[in-house]
Amino acid sequence: DRSIKIAPSILSADFANFGAEIRAIEAQGADWVHVDVMDGHFVPNLTFGPPAVAAFRPHVKTVMDVHLMIAPVDPYIEAFARAGADIITAHVEAGPHIHRTLQAIRAAGCKAGVSLNPGTPVEAIENVIDIVDLVLVMSVNPGFGGQSFIESQVEKVARVRQLVGDRPVHIEVDGGITPVTAPKVVAAGADVLVAGSAVFKGGSVDRPEIYGANIRAI
Ligand code: DX5
Ligand code: ZN
Repeated sequence: DRSIKIAPSILSADFANFGAEIRAIEAQGADWVHVDVMDGHFVPNLTFGPPAVAAFRPHVKTVMDVHLMIAPVDPYIEAFARAGADIITAHVEAGPHIHRTLQAIRAAGCKAGVSLNPGTPVEAIENVIDIVDLVLVMSVNPGFGGQSFIESQVEKVARVRQLVGDRPVHIEVDGGITPVTAPKVVAAGADVLVAGSAVFKGGSVDRPEIYGANIRAI
């Protein structure tokens, strides 16, 4: 039985209160904290870098799951590892040397994740499945929270599940996860669910119980 983990994305949190928001979601049941790093090049949005991630670290008591939507990746691996990332996930589309990138993430002492955009076939990660700890299937085109779930990715999750087999590899799904879409990807084989808007909507650091209710509803 694969216990399902919820990884709220702080992209949907209050950007003026990350420390308090992180403490609130963890107190309300978050299993991991999903940190969306965007560079304004690989994706059409810009969030935060290693200094911010290092500032988040002391507030994270669970797992800091760093999703790098950046290209190139390699020059920044060391900095995100030093910032305290537990998991660093790179996009297979971010450059020509994903195998080397994943080796470098592990060499830096972090767990390695590989992510697939909605348009990228599962075959793209067949040759690195043995050197990852996590596969992140994007169910939206990366760059923003609050987007609609792309249904075609459910079948891809099932294909990733087949590829993973009995390897100790997490299957994480990210984008448009709600109480409606979550069961579909869990049935297909996902064991970690990222949710931003579905967790943070209606809540605040003054109303953290809303976060808890939202997390339990997924
Ligand atoms: C999108 C990010 C996702 C996003 C999820 O590029 O990688 O993690 O924050 O937000 P929701 O859950 O609102 O789709
Ligand atoms: Zn993400």
